[in-house]
Amino acid sequence: MMWLLVFGLALTQQVTLASKYFQESLIHVKRNTLADNNNIICDHQAFELGIVLDSSASILPEDFTKGIKFLQDFLKRFDIGIDKVRVAIVVYSNNLHLEKSFNLSAYITKDAVIGAIGNITHASGGYTRTWDGISYMRSSQLGHQWVRPRVPKIGMVITDGNSQEGRKTKSQASIARENGIIMFALGVGDMVGQTELFNIAGDNSRIFRVESYSNLTSIINTLTNKTCVVTCTKPNLTDVYYVFSQSDLGLDKTRWVTDFISLSIVNNYENKGFKYDLRSDQCPNESGFWLDANKREQDFRNNLKSYNVPKLPVVIQHLRSEAGYSEAKGGRRNATKVAIMVVDSNTTAELVLTEVNLLLHQNVTVFVADPTNSGITIRGTTTLKGNVTEQSSQLVYYLLNPCKVLKSM
Ligand SMILES: *[C@@H]1O[C@H](CO)[C@@H](O)[C@H](O)[C@H]1NC(C)=O
Ligand SMILES: *[C@@H]1O[C@H](CO)[C@@H](O)[C@H](O)[C@H]1NC(C)=O
Ligand SMILES: *[C@@H]1O[C@H](CO)[C@@H](O)[C@H](O)[C@H]1NC(C)=O
Ligand SMILES: *[C@@H]1O[C@H](CO)[C@@H](O)[C@H](O)[C@H]1NC(C)=O
Ligand SMILES: *[C@@H]1O[C@H](CO)[C@@H](O)[C@H](O)[C@H]1NC(C)=O
Ligand SMILES: *[C@@H]1O[C@H](CO)[C@@H](O)[C@H](O)[C@H]1NC(C)=O
Ligand SMILES: *[C@@H]1O[C@H](CO)[C@@H](O)[C@H](O)[C@H]1NC(C)=O
Ligand SMILES: *[C@@H]1O[C@H](CO)[C@@H](O)[C@H](O)[C@H]1NC(C)=O
Ligand SMILES: *[C@@H]1O[C@H](CO)[C@@H](O)[C@H](O)[C@H]1NC(C)=O
Ligand SMILES: *[C@@H]1O[C@H](CO)[C@@H](O)[C@H](O)[C@H]1NC(C)=O
Repeated sequence: MMWLLVFGLALTQQVTLASKYFQESLIHVKRNTLADNNNIICDHQAFELGIVLDSSASILPEDFTKGIKFLQDFLKRFDIGIDKVRVAIVVYSNNLHLEKSFNLSAYITKDAVIGAIGNITHASGGYTRTWDGISYMRSSQLGHQWVRPRVPKIGMVITDGNSQEGRKTKSQASIARENGIIMFALGVGDMVGQTELFNIAGDNSRIFRVESYSNLTSIINTLTNKTCVVTCTKPNLTDVYYVFSQSDLGLDKTRWVTDFISLSIVNNYENKGFKYDLRSDQCPNESGFWLDANKREQDFRNNLKSYNVPKLPVVIQHLRSEAGYSEAKGGRRNATKVAIMVVDSNTTAELVLTEVNLLLHQNVTVFVADPTNSGITIRGTTTLKGNVTEQSSQLVYYLLNPCKVLKSM
């Protein structure tokens, strides 16, 4: 006998709202990490998960247990909590077994959810009413009254095979998808009809197949990766600083920078929620010394050394320590904070690491623009690539699609 897992992933408001203004955008990006043991874990995200579990007579009790264990191992990969992933389950066979089911708000910790799943026992029944399970999940568990606004909804149906009335299953799955649910189907064993899987998932890319219960474990990583979706809600305000050191760059590269800036500011930005400014270095050190400054040779030599020290770290430090994004400096409280640093050598990249990390801790999104385009990378930042035109257009793209940036972080 076979099992079938069906995932419904509802990306309810996947659109960037079109408007005169740069509205809140909801873009879904992968946000997962590899744990030490190479297990993919999926954190920093919220979604509603509805599991629809077939418990019909054709499933052997030990296989049912393997399915439960699989679900528990799968759920361990996610952040489960009241503001993170919430889980509901409905058990069905020839009818719904609500006594073995629970709703999204029933358990609010990972341990409780995994424990409750572990307590579910096999309840046989000679009919496979997959359509009823999907319908209940969609309307009574993941219905609009019960879910958090703009949080993705994931539904997971587990069945031991084709439903007797495939047409109804197709129709209910389709209603679920029309309600914003993206369906995933996982079939175990060679008895699962590809048509049934497709009718549920609605797309081959969301169909999973394994040959037996023992093989379920092998797909947890892939499945986690596939379902690891984060809802990114960025405010429609963006405060942007270009950050560079004229004295580090010299005139030629500073020309590159001014070209880059003029190409990369968003057109008509004042009407799109953007504020721009730039931070560069002031030049008290550049004017040289008066004759009274270096009475001793060693003073002169020491002062000379300051010309060889990149000034960019200091410029960044000023931006941070003087609270450049604060309301006092014209920043908006709810704005996305962006810094675009011009870095032209790996030496400078090393020297700015500490300051960049402090900016990142203030939730500033940091881009690296590199006039040399030589592959400088700084952890936690997005490096723009190509010539001046290409780097500018990438920056504009990221600024207008702020959630995309998460990919690189
Ligand atoms: C889930 O919530 C629905 C709607 O409130 C309710 O009718 C149903 O009984 C609940 N199901 C379970 C298993 O608690
Ligand atoms: C699971 O069952 C045990 C034993 O019946 C019970 O003590 C425990 O509270 C149950 N756990 C959950 C989460 O329902
Ligand atoms: C499924 O599991 C069996 C036994 O553990 C193994 O021999 C087989 O290679 C697995 N198949 C796949 C596709 O991983
Ligand atoms: C996760 O899926 C993406 C494609 O969606 C792939 O590029 C990436 O390598 C996968 N990650 C792992 C660790 O399998
Ligand atoms: C940002 O969005 C809010 C609500 O969607 C709207 O009221 C506000 O005018 C927008 N602000 C700008 C600058 O676009
Ligand atoms: C000149 O630069 C050095 C090194 O960056 C710094 O320690 C010193 O305070 C600066 N002098 C002035 C007058 O700003
Ligand atoms: C900022 O966002 C919070 C919640 O996201 C909201 O309550 C608050 O009114 C917003 N403040 C401004 C100034 O828009
Ligand atoms: C920085 O390091 C990368 C990788 O090590 C190297 O390819 C690149 O040429 C270096 N860039 C500069 C400007 O030194
Ligand atoms: C950064 O963002 C996180 C999550 O939104 C928030 O908890 C934290 O307080 C923010 N940090 C700062 C310095 O604003
Ligand atoms: C940048 O590269 C593009 C091709 O990718 C080219 O069309 C364009 O002329 C280049 N611009 C400059 C300023 O070099």
